Amino acid sequence: MTRTPIPTSVAAVLAVFTLVVLLPAPVALASPLPIPPLLEASTNARDERVFDLRVQSGSRKFSGNTRTDTLGYNGDYLGPTIRVRRGEDVRIRVRNTLSEPTTVHWHGVHLPAASDGGPHQRISAGGSWEAPFTVDQPAATLWYHPHLMGTTAEQVYRGLAGLLIVDDEVSENRDVPREYGRDDIPLVLQERRFGRGGSFEYRPSMPDLMHGYGGNALLTNGALEPYLTVRDERVRLRLLNGSNSTVLRLAFDDERSFHQIASDGGFLEAPVERRDVVLSPGERAEIVVDFPRRDAGPVTLFAESTSGRRYRALELRPATTVLREAPPLPTRLASIPDLASSGVDRRRRFVMSTMGRGGRLTINGRTMDMDRIDEVVQLDTTEIWEISSEGGGMRGGMRGGMMGVPHNFHVHGLQFQVLSVNGRRPPPELRGWKDTVPLWPGDRVQIVLRFENYTGVFMYHCHFLEHEDEGMMGQFAVRR
Ligand code: C2O
Ligand code: CU
Ligand code: CU
Repeated sequence: MTRTPIPTSVAAVLAVFTLVVLLPAPVALASPLPIPPLLEASTNARDERVFDLRVQSGSRKFSGNTRTDTLGYNGDYLGPTIRVRRGEDVRIRVRNTLSEPTTVHWHGVHLPAASDGGPHQRISAGGSWEAPFTVDQPAATLWYHPHLMGTTAEQVYRGLAGLLIVDDEVSENRDVPREYGRDDIPLVLQERRFGRGGSFEYRPSMPDLMHGYGGNALLTNGALEPYLTVRDERVRLRLLNGSNSTVLRLAFDDERSFHQIASDGGFLEAPVERRDVVLSPGERAEIVVDFPRRDAGPVTLFAESTSGRRYRALELRPATTVLREAPPLPTRLASIPDLASSGVDRRRRFVMSTMGRGGRLTINGRTMDMDRIDEVVQLDTTEIWEISSEGGGMRGGMRGGMMGVPHNFHVHGLQFQVLSVNGRRPPPELRGWKDTVPLWPGDRVQIVLRFENYTGVFMYHCHFLEHEDEGMMGQFAVRR
């Protein structure tokens, strides 16, 4: 059980650049935690479960009296939780009522390329789009968000994001909390930059594009410093770092330990005892926290940003009534097949760099081009991808006058496994299914991917949204 330090050289470097953000924090209202509603489905003649999402604009008061112009799915800000079960045929219908185009990408979902919602599945202003797919992956906390070239960061920042939860036989039969909104709590964590009036907008400067659009406050499900009344001895938190480019370290104020039970793509094989969790943008973790009957005082979940800001993400207040008893935590959660064990067909390398010509953000020296396929992959093969983050901070010091910035690497359409981090076996929390893996400056990470079921064009990219919009993305085509 270790404490995960955010490398201090990185924190220090980022602190310098986030001086621009020395704005006072907005006034929090201490309101109850909003829980995104579960989206109702209907069934059509083809026996598909049909979900309807409407992309809309709105406004909301987050703090003080100023309204922020926002975007949301079926509401002002964020979106409902879509809950599906393995084996189901699902069809999500999206109507874009905005005056600008968008896309809706299902992050972490294994599905056909045409339903992926990446930059190619553009939904024009006033247009609509449908994403049919069969749920075919283990239970997990996934999410959805826009993915249009160049405007992803702004659309997400203004509120377009929602959760997609997959259930299966395993998740329904393990003794872990699963009453949505009661002891199974989704937490969408987003750092935001509030102005003095108590509203926020997206106006990145040049350094913001490199170092990320950091902020001075944290929204938890769209609320500032909310609280949750706890009625159970054990609570499961589904954590999503929904920030644009901020890495968050999450821990409790009394430094209590808890168990991580799932990573991006589903359950770990066994619960991992931890005192903190570090999530880069787009990553998820599920944790369970215990509230022993006898000393059940309030406890605060803190989120520390890369720039050293410390936010109250959620106050958990045990109810004064007797808390519902929790069964012992299972010692085994799921079995995860070893993807590399059946042989590796091919290896590739990806170098993420902030030192391209004219300070461009590149992968293998190139910025994203919609008309270029960067990698061609054979269907039904297994590959090892080695990703390295060039430059700066940790290893090489300053190079090319540019200091190191963190990145991560996300792959569409599948869940992969982490084989090694800087030549070593990954820590237990990285031994489950992942779709996004963090890279500190100088890091080298190997992942194993299995390409199955679907051909077509998918994306890989840095999920720091400012980097993604600046072109730190590429495409791979899966072919028969
Ligand atoms: Cu969540 Cu291509 O992204
Ligand atoms: Cu994705
Ligand atoms: Cu990046």
